[in-house]
Amino acid sequence: MIVKMTKEHIDEVIDIHIDCFKDSFLTSLDRGVLDCMYNNYLSSELGCAYVYIIPETILGFIVGTVNPSVYYNQLLKKRWLRILGLTLKRVIRNPRILKSIAQRDFSGFFRPNESEESYRRASLDLIAVKPEYRGRGIARNLTEAFLYDLKARGVSEVNLGVAATNVRAKRFYEKMGFEKVRTSVDNYGRESNIYKLTMSV
Ligand SMILES: CC(C)(COP(=O)(O)OP(=O)(O)OC[C@H]1O[C@@H](n2cnc3c(N)ncnc32)[C@H](O)[C@@H]1OP(=O)(O)O)[C@@H](O)C(=O)NCCC(=O)NCCS
Repeated sequence: MIVKMTKEHIDEVIDIHIDCFKDSFLTSLDRGVLDCMYNNYLSSELGCAYVYIIPETILGFIVGTVNPSVYYNQLLKKRWLRILGLTLKRVIRNPRILKSIAQRDFSGFFRPNESEESYRRASLDLIAVKPEYRGRGIARNLTEAFLYDLKARGVSEVNLGVAATNVRAKRFYEKMGFEKVRTSVDNYGRESNIYKLTMSV
């Protein structure tokens, strides 16, 4: 069954996140940062978050946001002190993370785009299904609920980025109708594919 994500789901969602995104930058940060991040999808009117749940257990989740530039700007304004504190704690324990932070481009977070047009755009930030439940249509169902919700809010374009090496996810997004629009390369030379889905409203 698919339901909107609530605060009670977040601990389990974080467990799935850590298991499914072992090597990601976000996972390298403190669990508290993930808690902060997932809670914000619930508290912001721009957030969109669903879980696939069977009695007592969450099998997968999807999160994203309408107008990401405004969403992330609000997140920083609201929670910057907590995020900074948690990140510093993590950096002290593992100073190598600092290099990863320094290499990232956070400039978009400081340039919110308030135009009417930008509220028609959304981002699909993360989707994950527990490994033992994959290939059963759970991600497809989650994505359909997510897109239906966004469409009802007037969104006509959904964007996402996925590591070029994540072949399974790329195939999944293509099956869902997303089209690759470009490739971007980060400061480490890691390639991401940017996908877009256009919906009629
Ligand atoms: C990507 C992911 C979410 C897909 O979840 P899933 O529940 O297995 O996907 P579904 O069963 O809903 O598959 C939906 C469609 O994609 C296709 N698909 C899924 N996995 C596939 C694979 N490995 N190869 C080819 N096609 C695949 C299915 O054939 C299906 O199409 P169909 O309905 O026409 O048969 C899952 O593999 C996952 O959690 N990966 C780890 C996290 C991740 O990388 N997330 C994406 C980056 S944020």
